[in-house]
Amino acid sequence: MSTEHAEFEKLIESLNDEAALQEYKASLDRYRPGLLPRFLGGILVWCGNAIYGKPSYLKFRAVEVIARVPYHSWASAAFTLLTLFYTDETRALKLSTIARFAHFASDNETIHVVVISALARKEQPAGIIRHTIIPLFFAFFYFWMSYFIYLINPRWSLETNYLFEQHAFDQYTLFLKQNEASLKSKAIESDFLTWYGRHPRSQYEFFRSVRNDEVVHRNQSIHEITLNENHAA
Ligand SMILES: [Fe+2]
Ligand SMILES: [Fe+2]
Repeated sequence: MSTEHAEFEKLIESLNDEAALQEYKASLDRYRPGLLPRFLGGILVWCGNAIYGKPSYLKFRAVEVIARVPYHSWASAAFTLLTLFYTDETRALKLSTIARFAHFASDNETIHVVVISALARKEQPAGIIRHTIIPLFFAFFYFWMSYFIYLINPRWSLETNYLFEQHAFDQYTLFLKQNEASLKSKAIESDFLTWYGRHPRSQYEFFRSVRNDEVVHRNQSIHEITLNENHAA
């Protein structure tokens, strides 16, 4: 495990403490994204709620298929921009910083989608249209939307992600609260989690770690805006 990964896992574990979580969250709870991100984030959240309803294994499976996509978009957009602006060292530094963050976060999102879809297979039967085709369609749409918006104005794309991650955090928080006893009684075994370096003892511990990941993604999206704009200055 790299130092960056070890530090990330330490932060995720520290957020199991309610007071630490509140303190970490509070720093950006009042962040107000611009009008376009609020509009796009609002559509995404509304569609998710309309199609998948309240928190469930299958809702999370769909959310996670879609949620990892912007990280891939940013890495791709940064790659495209570097192909055009490689002689500008300041810009290259800025683009490489976001690409590093995007790769790291997309690996983290991959554990969510892989492990949650394995859990969903055991817990809830999935319809092909609602649970496979629609998330794929959304992921495709979201990929290109994040990509082009990033090319035009990175801030808009990062702020849309802030809203989507906030929604994911809220949904996991509710799911943990509503299903605490049953999640604590269910063991979890996953070769993918072991490979990643995370070892929850129950589904409760797993979903709590995912909830913590989402709030860190939320905050990091805004930190990236600051880094981006500082490098640009
Ligand atoms: Fe996620
Ligand atoms: Fe996330």
